[in-house]
Amino acid sequence: MSSKAIIVALDKPDLASAVELAKMLDPALCRVKVGKELFTSAGPAVINALHDLGFEVFLDLKFHDIPNTVAGACKAAARLGVWMLNVHASGGPAMLNAARDAIGGPSTDVPLLIAVTVLTSMDDAELAATGVSGVAADQVARLTGLANQCGLDGVVCSAHEALSVKANYPGLVSVTPGIRLASDSADDQRRVMTPERAVQNGSTYLVIGRSVTGAADPVAQLKRIQQSLTTV
Ligand code: C5P
Repeated sequence: MSSKAIIVALDKPDLASAVELAKMLDPALCRVKVGKELFTSAGPAVINALHDLGFEVFLDLKFHDIPNTVAGACKAAARLGVWMLNVHASGGPAMLNAARDAIGGPSTDVPLLIAVTVLTSMDDAELAATGVSGVAADQVARLTGLANQCGLDGVVCSAHEALSVKANYPGLVSVTPGIRLASDSADDQRRVMTPERAVQNGSTYLVIGRSVTGAADPVAQLKRIQQSLTTV
C-alpha cells in the first residue's frame, strides 16, 4: 500500500475552516480532497492554499455535462495544478473522450483523470429508481469498462467493487469512498467498508471524510488508521 493511500475529504463550508483542518493533518501522511461545497464557497483560492501547505489535491467536482462543457471544466481544473480530478462515467463515451483529450495524458504532468461509477451512497434499490436495472456491482463493471476504453486513469467505486476492478483492469486505479471504521455510523453511505478490508480488497486510494474529520482529534485518528494499514 502506498504510504499516501488515504485522501482526507475536507468537507468544510469555507476556506478558513478547511485550512484549519488541513493544518492539523500532514502532507507526508495523506492527500486531501476538495468537493463541491468547499469549492463553490472558496473557489481556486482554497486549492492554492492547500498547495502552499504542501498537499496534493483531489478536486472532486464530478463533472457531468455535454462533452464541450466538461472538456473546458477539466482544462480549468488541470490549470489549477490538482493531482486528481473526476467526471461521471455515466456522461458517456463522447464526454469521457473529450475530458481525456482536453487535459492530455495520461502522463505524470497531467492530473489523474478518474471516472465516478455508482455513488457509494446508492444501493441496488436507489439505482433501480434511476432506471438502471440490475445490481450496483454490474453497473460499476459496465462503467469501469467504459472508463478504461476511453483512456481514463481509474474509477471511483465502493471498496466492495475494488477487487473486480483490479482483476479486470489492472492498469486502473480505484478510488474508494464509503470507508467507515468498525465503530462508526454509516451516515448516508450505503456500500461501506473498513480501511483494512478496503486495502485487502485492492483499493488504491481510500477517501475518508467524517471518520477522520468528525473525530475529536483528526490527526490522531488518521495516524491510527495509517497504523492499522501497515499490517495489512
Ligand atoms: O464522510 P465520508 O467519508 O462519507 O465522505 C466521503 C466523501 O467522498 C464525500 O466528500 C463524498 O462527496 C465523496 N464521494 C463519495 N462517493 C463517491 C464519490 C465521492 O462519497 N462516489
